[in-house]
Amino acid sequence: MSATPNNLDAYWMPFTANRAFKAAPRMMVAAEGMHYTTGDGRKVLDGTAGLWCCNAGHARPKIVEAISRQAREMDYSPAFQMGHPKAFELASRLVRLMPGALDHVFFTNSGSESVETALKMAIAYHRLNGQGERVRLIGRERGYHGVNFGGMAVGGMTANRKMFGSLVTGVDHMRHTHGDPRNFFAKGEPEFGAELADDLERLCTLHDPSTIAAVIVEPVQGSAGVFVPPKGYLKRLRETCDRHGILLIFDEVITGYGRLGTPFAVDYFGVEPDIVTTAKGLTNGVIPMGAVFVQKKIHDAFMQGPPNAVEFFHGYTYSANPMACAAALGTLDTYAEEGLLTRGASLAGYWADAAHSLNDISIVADIRTLGLIAGIELRSIDGKPTARAFDAYLKCFAAGLLVRTTGDIIALSPPLIVEKAQIDEIFDTIRTVLQQVA
Ligand SMILES: Cc1ncc(COP(=O)(O)O)c(C=O)c1O
Repeated sequence: MSATPNNLDAYWMPFTANRAFKAAPRMMVAAEGMHYTTGDGRKVLDGTAGLWCCNAGHARPKIVEAISRQAREMDYSPAFQMGHPKAFELASRLVRLMPGALDHVFFTNSGSESVETALKMAIAYHRLNGQGERVRLIGRERGYHGVNFGGMAVGGMTANRKMFGSLVTGVDHMRHTHGDPRNFFAKGEPEFGAELADDLERLCTLHDPSTIAAVIVEPVQGSAGVFVPPKGYLKRLRETCDRHGILLIFDEVITGYGRLGTPFAVDYFGVEPDIVTTAKGLTNGVIPMGAVFVQKKIHDAFMQGPPNAVEFFHGYTYSANPMACAAALGTLDTYAEEGLLTRGASLAGYWADAAHSLNDISIVADIRTLGLIAGIELRSIDGKPTARAFDAYLKCFAAGLLVRTTGDIIALSPPLIVEKAQIDEIFDTIRTVLQQVA
């Protein structure tokens, strides 16, 4: 099979500069372990776990076997008024990974769908509890919660919002937590800024808390450029939500499944939200799937009325798709056998030291790390925001390293199987490239 298709025209690519890409395409044709192979036969070290999703690396045997077996056994079964054993097995195994009362799971097909599901659950939950006036949703500047209308509305990335009209109404935003120079080059959680969580209290005063259904935040903001919450910030949000009967949603699409060196950010920060949205690492990115974890009180609020009536008018044709369930079970087996959900904890120090070793490069404005995540913020070229980081991205790719950029920030999130020598390779390559784009 040719690695080079003869026509690139028909495919409208997502979140891509289509014309520039098609003028100079970057094609991946194979992947194994920590590496991709490009169309021209080069090996590229995966510094981003695909798109923050291939946490166990690529072509993992347990996952490949699970989906091959499932395709032969049963390719699809209807998702509504019907079940199959692997969906129940997967849900039971997932809730055992999650601490506290987060003991029910609703399946979706992506992070965006998990977010929409969570927001709808929150509003419906209050209505079921006789508080139908709680309809407002609170997000955060620079938040990313996917691309569907609810997620876009609570999200706070301007470019993702501005073209799409009035979005969902009744949404407000807290300030983001980035920018205090005292926090620059912090390893782990920065010291300053927990009081920014009090923005929620101000929004409660403005709107009256009785109108607010839920607050949604990424425990660590990923897509906008790796913003680690200040020490105590998330606890403070939890306390404010508790005071006012507001549900707290953690969007763990990036932080879930071992990224921080704990199974979930819930464990890392010791803060228990009411709802947790996940996707990506759930199936190692192999088959699209998301999972929304909810506390028992939320699940149980829906379980009323006649027992033969549908309780939640929501779901997807591919919710708990058998192929996706098989991929997720193979993924959980791989995580368990190799201790990947906590492996990041033993590498986090080495990772942080390697990332922060770039702090002597003149164009590096800030470095942020937590678990196996790093954000390297570059000084922008005057009048050309994003140009420097994108140039670095292209040069890294040419040098055999896949990184991701957002604005002028390089974001890194390697598969959790990464070895120390590969961590060295990642930051040695970036050092060379940053010297070239300085
Ligand atoms: C925190 C967060 N939420 C939601 C999403 C959307 O996920 P998807 O692209 O699977 O719809 C992402 C994707 O990066 C994310 O990082």
